[in-house]
Amino acid sequence: MTKDKNLKFPEGFLWGASVSSHQVEGGNHNQWTIWEKENANRLAETAEKRLKRVKAWPEIKKQAQDPDNYISGEGVDHFRRYEKDFDIAKSLNLNSLRFSIEWSRIEPEEGQWNREAIDYYKRYIKELNQRGLEPMLNIWHWTLPVWFAARGGFKYRKNLWYFRRFVKLVADELTDDVRYIITINEPNVYTTYSYLAPEPVTQTLWPPQEKNIVSFTRVYLNLVQAHRQAYKILKAKRPGLKVGIASHLANIQAKRPHNIFDEGITQSMRYFWDWWFLRRTRLQQDFIGFNYYFTDYYRFKFSIAPENPKVPLSDMGWYMEPEGVYPLLLRTWAHYKKPIIITENGLADMHDEYRWWWIGETIIAMERAMSEGVKVAGYFHWSLLDNFEWSHGWWPKFGLVAVDRENGMRRTIRKSALWYAEKITELKK
Ligand code: BGC
Repeated sequence: MTKDKNLKFPEGFLWGASVSSHQVEGGNHNQWTIWEKENANRLAETAEKRLKRVKAWPEIKKQAQDPDNYISGEGVDHFRRYEKDFDIAKSLNLNSLRFSIEWSRIEPEEGQWNREAIDYYKRYIKELNQRGLEPMLNIWHWTLPVWFAARGGFKYRKNLWYFRRFVKLVADELTDDVRYIITINEPNVYTTYSYLAPEPVTQTLWPPQEKNIVSFTRVYLNLVQAHRQAYKILKAKRPGLKVGIASHLANIQAKRPHNIFDEGITQSMRYFWDWWFLRRTRLQQDFIGFNYYFTDYYRFKFSIAPENPKVPLSDMGWYMEPEGVYPLLLRTWAHYKKPIIITENGLADMHDEYRWWWIGETIIAMERAMSEGVKVAGYFHWSLLDNFEWSHGWWPKFGLVAVDRENGMRRTIRKSALWYAEKITELKK
């Protein structure tokens, strides 16, 4: 990749990576940990049927058929090793980290704040700042305290009261040294896989496994309110905070570009998947945060599965088109005219074959978009560390840094991470 000297990433551009509490911390107790225990055997038994088409199957077979794979358990022990992990992030020339706080640690029982957990996250933020890593705090990344889930979670409007109380706590206790806050991660993915349709590869619904379009709609609408209310609380406390969400946006395209039916389905998918939530909350977004993983091609038919090219595919069988973030950046800018932060972006790549290519293509795509006037303010790779991949468990490897859970949680920096680190230095010059 050659660098055009005229194109510069702006001063203060956030070069980062993301993690989320449940996927790395270890030792959590929330609605997901319960679900994992209840479903581990089933997921292990059905692994072959679900995954045998995936290229990586021969290599992941053993792990995917082991119930332990589906238990988050000790995580990658980030809870205890966070300082060392921050040192690694720093050594990779990153200047920011996106992380989430675990509601179930802070409020394990309804109304009872766990002082230790609050102080823990205060220290966590302090340690980031001390290393010159800008903290981007994500309030909610899908895991719920057991008591909140038992009350129906986000299905009931009245439960937003508990969420507001939690956000108030966050505003009071955890925003002193933070400038960026994300309220909610991917409301569309959460509501879809928990309440509408099984996650495509694992073919399983996520907790609470309630396939019901009415519940889906209620949760989705309530999350709109949850974001609006959280925004208000946070801004009232600290007007200078930059508050947004991390939405899951796909670069949705027509399979046959001039076919009126394919264009029709493309426009509807863009509206429902990409813009529905953002449109409703656009006045409460200081920046547009999005996670980009997919370019999806749609052909008109009576099901809504995309028809994507067969290559190249990631370990999870996802079609990879990293440069698809370019039209997505343009489209997002055209809709909202607000600074954009790519809050997640990456791939499962256990042999670290494609990661550097993926990051390189993404950097070119960002440069192109910026050259056309799009304000891109940051890029966060998913993920800093190998992590617990929800209903897939531990086999997918998303980390810039590999973690060997069998051998004392040893961290090994992948080559692509070193490549990314060099690129950052080059682009800052
Ligand atoms: C989620 C992450 C997840 C990643 C890779 C995103 O949709 O926010 O939690 O690990 O995708 O699947």
